[in-house]
Amino acid sequence: MIKLTGIEKYFFAGTPNAIKALDSINLEIKQGDFITLIGSNGAGKSTLLKAIAGVINVDAGKIEIEGEDVTGQAEHVRARDIGRIDQDPMASTAAELSIEENLAMAYLRGQRRGLAKAVSTRRTAIFQEALQVIGLGLENRLKVPVGTLSGGQRQALALVMATIARPKLLLLDEHTAALDPNAAKLVMGITEQVVSGNKLTTIMITHNMEQAIRYGNRLIMMHRGRIILDFDASEKKDLTVPALVNKFTSTSGAVFDDDRVLLA
Ligand SMILES: Nc1ncnc2c1ncn2[C@@H]1O[C@H](COP(=O)(O)OP(=O)(O)O)[C@@H](O)[C@H]1O
Ligand SMILES: [Mg+2]
Repeated sequence: MIKLTGIEKYFFAGTPNAIKALDSINLEIKQGDFITLIGSNGAGKSTLLKAIAGVINVDAGKIEIEGEDVTGQAEHVRARDIGRIDQDPMASTAAELSIEENLAMAYLRGQRRGLAKAVSTRRTAIFQEALQVIGLGLENRLKVPVGTLSGGQRQALALVMATIARPKLLLLDEHTAALDPNAAKLVMGITEQVVSGNKLTTIMITHNMEQAIRYGNRLIMMHRGRIILDFDASEKKDLTVPALVNKFTSTSGAVFDDDRVLLA
């Protein structure tokens, strides 16, 4: 469904500070895959998601979505097919707009021209239904400015926004990392529900190995711009954190020394 072939991305190319952020990335993602993506700081995880979303251009390789070559396609065009959330609840939602207005923006972004004019009463019903699923009572607070919500509520709303237009792919970049532990847990539960409930093809970056093992049907580990481990559901089932650290060491030849990951 999504295919990456020979993806390369350099920063500061041709200078002494040149970085190969993505190095020969080949990846095939099946419809409905829920992939957890892990790796030490600077491994290239965020760069990979940005390349898929078209936020950055790649220096080599090909990105295909359902057989269509989207490698050179602008970010806003790809945004119809791709929902995306980053760490920052302030960036994923617009504080000064109401819950309803935030959802309307997200909803319209996903529509092809000409289909955009959903009758507003119908639209409200769609929004309320989508909000009901996450169980925070936001469906009764449509007119409330998003700036009055907590970080966890905002990331939960961002999840609804990212998925309301039925994207072909959902990209989550440590979307619970900036939340306190309870809110993070809540948002992870909602994520599982939204992704599984809609059988959404998803890549979720996490710095938490336990989370990477627990969620999804496939686990990928990156190191220095490369994919070094790729476990399917059956390989992932009996995986433990120490086993994953050992696999990292034996495959990369490096010691896993990212405390943020190890102590999560
Ligand atoms: N916009 C940028 N400009 C320069 N270097 C960047 C930029 N984005 C990422 N990098 C570098 O690319 C490498 C991969 O970064 P990133 O994808 O953010 O890693 P991760 O998300 O796995 O922590 C790092 O060395 C980082 O410093
Ligand atoms: Mg990152």
